[in-house]
Amino acid sequence: MNRRPFLAEIGNTPLVQLDRLFPSDGHRGIQVYAKLELMNPNGSAKDRPAIRIIQEALKSGLIAPGSVVIESSSGNMAISLAAICSYYGMRFISVIDPKTSPQSIRIMKAYGAQIEYVAEPDKATGEFLPARLARVQELLAANPNSYWPNQYENEHNYMSHYEGTMREIAQELGSIDYLFGGVSTCGTMLGSAKYAREHGMTTKLVGVDAVGSVIFGGQKSGRRFPGLGAGIVPPFARVPFLDEVVHIREADMIRECHELANQEAIVAGPSSGAVIAAVKRSLPALPDGVRCVAIIHDRGERYLETVYSRDWVKEHFGIELQSGRNC
Ligand SMILES: Cc1ncc(COP(=O)(O)O)c(C=O)c1O
Repeated sequence: MNRRPFLAEIGNTPLVQLDRLFPSDGHRGIQVYAKLELMNPNGSAKDRPAIRIIQEALKSGLIAPGSVVIESSSGNMAISLAAICSYYGMRFISVIDPKTSPQSIRIMKAYGAQIEYVAEPDKATGEFLPARLARVQELLAANPNSYWPNQYENEHNYMSHYEGTMREIAQELGSIDYLFGGVSTCGTMLGSAKYAREHGMTTKLVGVDAVGSVIFGGQKSGRRFPGLGAGIVPPFARVPFLDEVVHIREADMIRECHELANQEAIVAGPSSGAVIAAVKRSLPALPDGVRCVAIIHDRGERYLETVYSRDWVKEHFGIELQSGRNC
């Protein structure tokens, strides 16, 4: 009998081959695997940094049952922290903005999280992130015994992917040739890069960003989906660590989400659609026979009202989704 608590199931996510989207006999022997981070208990890769940050803070006495945890997140990190704080008997205050989906807010509330809604972006930058972080500081000052995980700068964020995501991939597949993954705090790809370099792997790391994000420079523009990209350069991205960066438009993320659902029966979020789009774009330039891993960051249920809604997709992107398929 498994006597482990639910949250002990974080990590050790499945790795499956995407042989329909990328038939290895049809693409010069190129194999593409998906690391299914959506199979984490709370539905995304963010379970990894969230549990590590909280357990380390508990260990070092920064928090204890009864503490108040306060974090800025527009979705997945907040859901994971809400679940983990509930388990450890701590209050969680989630500072969100208009990009957070109604489903995500409902999931956070189901775990008892308190929602702090930031409606206006920062005046100087026009970005929500600085405005959310300013609200976090106010809440920390107003709540004694409170703690800020600070996912943008906490080394346990990327170390969770060093010890988890990339180690698991290496243990299962050995030294893969390419890793494609979405970027926001850059914790996933920084931890994976560090693991690969320190273990003599020759893996090329391809960061997948949203058009309009400025993590790696470029022109800032509006983005609708939470989770991928950033309106600032996150601290983890100040020193270059990727071999390549690919920028994907939101319309292409949507198309590839539907492809993933139709071809592989995986309903995932838009950052995973972006990762698949990046693999497809890179494919012609890849050497024959290489093995690639694509990170599938989160579940699609959080986007039923957007990516998987025919009406929403038509209204916002002018794309007609095929009738009767996934929407
Ligand atoms: C859905 C989704 N994809 C990709 C990412 C990128 O992860 P990271 O913050 O590790 O760069 C995130 C992070 O929030 C996410 O929620």
